[in-house]
Amino acid sequence: QNTYLVGGELKEWKGANAEVYSTISSTKEYKPTLLGTVPDLTADEAIEALNASLKAYDQGQGLWPTMKVEGRIAAMEKFVVQMKTKREEIVKLLMWEIGKSLPDSQKEFDRTVEYIYDTIEDYKQMDRDSAKFEKNSGVHAHIRRGPLGVVLCLGPYNYPLNETFALLIPALIMGNTAIFKPAKHGVLLLSPLLEAFRDSFPAGVVNIIYGRGRVLATPIMKTGKVDVLALIGNSKSANAIQANHPQKNRLRLVLGLEAKNPGIVLPDADLDLAINECIAGATSFNGQRCTALKILYVHEHIVDEFNKRFAAKVDALKFGNPWEDGVKLTPLPEPGKPAYIQELIDDATAKGAKVINKKGGETTENYIFPAVLYPVSKDSRVFDEEQFGPVTPIVSFKNIQEPLDDMAASNYGQQVSVFGSEVKTLAPLIDTLVNLVCRVNLNSAAQRGPDVYPFTGRKDSAVATLSVHDALRSFSIRTFVAAKDTEYNNA
Ligand code: G3H
Repeated sequence: QNTYLVGGELKEWKGANAEVYSTISSTKEYKPTLLGTVPDLTADEAIEALNASLKAYDQGQGLWPTMKVEGRIAAMEKFVVQMKTKREEIVKLLMWEIGKSLPDSQKEFDRTVEYIYDTIEDYKQMDRDSAKFEKNSGVHAHIRRGPLGVVLCLGPYNYPLNETFALLIPALIMGNTAIFKPAKHGVLLLSPLLEAFRDSFPAGVVNIIYGRGRVLATPIMKTGKVDVLALIGNSKSANAIQANHPQKNRLRLVLGLEAKNPGIVLPDADLDLAINECIAGATSFNGQRCTALKILYVHEHIVDEFNKRFAAKVDALKFGNPWEDGVKLTPLPEPGKPAYIQELIDDATAKGAKVINKKGGETTENYIFPAVLYPVSKDSRVFDEEQFGPVTPIVSFKNIQEPLDDMAASNYGQQVSVFGSEVKTLAPLIDTLVNLVCRVNLNSAAQRGPDVYPFTGRKDSAVATLSVHDALRSFSIRTFVAAKDTEYNNA
């Protein structure tokens, strides 16, 4: 693949291409193998993409930002119809590029299609909401939602389709124009959609470029002409990228960042349920989800029993290629990840923890089997760091105030899962937890979906809210026409 999309044209890249590796292997050795290449664009192409976005936006006077609701909906519907024809190809690329299991890859695709249709429906509703209101003055305020301008959109590797589109689709439908650069992994799967983007939207409304973040995002931001930075990733990159903007007050941020979501297991919890949900929360997609459970607090009265059963269940999870039946654990797309996870294990064990499951830490070239660590001391790296991979630290607690204090001291505040059955204890605890994070999962694993739920976080976990409903607001501004004139009011 050597094309990219700028100004409504699929441009051919004649320079050097970047190699894209597959995480999976037919030989069972799980060695990364070359899957394809994508353009490794330079600052010049980045600026060309920015200029195309600026031209299409034309300071709010372009065809797209001034288009009627029906026109933007028609464009989005045209896009999604074409996208649906690419399901098989994209699902395969999700498996090959990022090692996501077949059912999860299919779910990612289908969930994204549903997300687009739900966004369209919400957008129609939004227009009706903004009809008009009146106070005693006789002046009518005709409320509208207007676009913000040019959006620089950077997506993550773990949900290269769904989370990318959770930014791009609402940004576009609200009348903004966008430059999108995918992550390093999960990049080929956008190729089947380039034509659909080109054919559905006016030239320059959506521009898709490939290459290194620093090379492309830095010059774009330095121009000061980006109105919104939309990014799902880590706060370090978000800070570095936004720092290049010369007038930060003009920049709106829509950011989905890190999390260290705790699972808290109370002494009266249904242990089977708690263990099953903690397994799903901590290990699905090898823990490479910002919503994963990344630390477990288990009450001291039940911790031994919990650990024994939790560790045995983790060891029973099947590792293999993403398309194999019943596979729960798959190779990791980031080549440095097994070594990083091993560092966390070594650090925690040097500080007193043990790997309590038999297979924990077993490695192949691009995989490391999930390690369950107990008891993890608070000065261990894995206690604070977002591991984003297959290792689960467990700590025991005597008093519920201990995990609450840790959550209050944490840099993150996305979600928590709490397991218990005594409603009397849970109700006041939940009232406290919602002030520490943004979503409390009661007797269930942490997760983002359904996509109509608000997805956000406190502290370094997020800026702005994503969801079918909220993202439309995050990517727009409320404007209005104040009119006394009866002709306008009745129109
Ligand atoms: O990486 C963060 C994703 O938004 C997780 O989404 O909870 O649906 O797996 P999920």
